[in-house]
Amino acid sequence: MDYMVLYSSKTGNTKKVATEIFSALPGMSKDMQNIDEYRGKDADTFFIGFWVDRGTCELSVIDVLSELHGKKIALFGTCGMGSGTDYYRNIEKKVTVWVPDDCEYLGMFLCQGKMPMKVREKYEIFREDPREEAYRKQMLRNFDEALFHPNDNDLADARAFVEQMCKMIYG
Ligand SMILES: Cc1cc2nc3c(=O)[nH]c(=O)nc-3n(C[C@H](O)[C@H](O)[C@H](O)COP(=O)(O)O)c2cc1C
Repeated sequence: MDYMVLYSSKTGNTKKVATEIFSALPGMSKDMQNIDEYRGKDADTFFIGFWVDRGTCELSVIDVLSELHGKKIALFGTCGMGSGTDYYRNIEKKVTVWVPDDCEYLGMFLCQGKMPMKVREKYEIFREDPREEAYRKQMLRNFDEALFHPNDNDLADARAFVEQMCKMIYG
């Protein structure tokens, strides 16, 4: 098989991106599975999707990723934070640590994804310290922006990512 798309998704954001990536992949030699259901089906290239959990990916993703050998690997994911900072680069650094040396790492696509309301509640409490208060307000703005993601632009970016990955594979 040419491509296997595996994803871990608690609330559906990453599944949405995975579905877009799967449909953008060329040809018929491809499959998509929730990472928890993965039983070792082989492919030349793996697209591995994750939701960001405390700055990195879940253990189930690490388990599968670190067992792949001699494969091409592209990563994708969703997280609560918006882009435009070093934050995404740090996530990439943390997750790519688990890509085995005998695999070829192709790149990563990350976009924002809505978060559960309980996260907003954490930031709804007024802080006395002006610096903490500024941070709190920034986090509230970020939360509210995340409610609209992944949106159509994110999905278009995911398709562009697939195109870029395929160029890397086939030249
Ligand atoms: C327990 C937990 C931890 C999270 N940690 C982070 C984090 O460190 N950084 C971040 O940007 N988003 C974080 N998020 C937000 C999720 O990564 C984000 O909502 C993601 O889109 C969820 O994807 P899913 O719908 O596929 O599960 C966290 C969410 C939860 C529930």
